[in-house]
Amino acid sequence: MTRSFLDITDLSGDEARLVLDIAERPIAELGRPLEGQGAALIFEKPSNRTRHSMEMAVVQLGGHPVYTRGEEVGFDIREPVEDIGKIMEGYHGMIAARVFSHSIVERLASSANVPVVNMLSDKSHPLQGLADALTMRQCLGDLAGRTVAYVGDYNNVSRSLAEISAMLGMHIRLACPTGFDADGAELERILLQGAASVQQFTRPSEAVAGAHAVHTDTWVSMGQEDDKEARRQAFEGFQVDEAMMSVADPTAVFMHCLPAYRGFEVSGSVIDGPQSVVYQQGHNRMHSARAIMAYLLGVR
Ligand code: CP
Ligand code: NVA
Repeated sequence: MTRSFLDITDLSGDEARLVLDIAERPIAELGRPLEGQGAALIFEKPSNRTRHSMEMAVVQLGGHPVYTRGEEVGFDIREPVEDIGKIMEGYHGMIAARVFSHSIVERLASSANVPVVNMLSDKSHPLQGLADALTMRQCLGDLAGRTVAYVGDYNNVSRSLAEISAMLGMHIRLACPTGFDADGAELERILLQGAASVQQFTRPSEAVAGAHAVHTDTWVSMGQEDDKEARRQAFEGFQVDEAMMSVADPTAVFMHCLPAYRGFEVSGSVIDGPQSVVYQQGHNRMHSARAIMAYLLGVR
């Protein structure tokens, strides 16, 4: 059966570790598994990192990326998602989509006979999760038993981060305002992926204390712009600033998937300061995208 990558949990822990290893292999060793084939990249939302890293990763695997805006394809507006999937499998060796509703990537994956990659949905951002794990591993070494803290909205980015951190055996600490947090069943589900522990706090400093990696993300995700003011009020006190970083492990790294809103979820002094690895993290989006596509196409 064709393997797709809609969520981190589509991989086992061993597979996730192998994909991270593939991300660090020289490109020439991957054997151009997309040679002579296309890759459809469909975006219902804006993007910088995901579009560029995926386009370049497709080229590095020998393929030809075809970018299309979501409005042009018109999932369920111009034609049913299933017709789009079945047509595109005849042109492309891979289909990738950034969508509002996660069900769109699920329906593409069940209709098309080529791998489908989720480039961000309302539920998850698994390509980001891979890059986050690769960056933490490069900065911290073996991640088993290390502590990752996430401060902010329990959203697509933090769900994928929690899943891969769990698979790699980390202690996971979330700090989220009430109403923007993970429920008990979700915390249990994350724990069962293999986490050393999972804890959630409403006071960010408790989550960050002694952590080896401190992550955050925007308080206002794409599509939530109408709630911007209410969200900014709800997240007051959740900015990752120097005082918050001072309670983390002294060697801790600061991470953010970007785009970042300085003065809101992170202070300029932290994201532009010595503990920040956000550009390395962003560059790793290309290496991890190349790795997961190579893996889906049979590279081992
Ligand atoms: N981190 C991330 O997905 O960035 P873009 O929205 O720019 O692709
Ligand atoms: N949570 C953010 C991530 C952007 C890369 C969003 O969905 O807009």
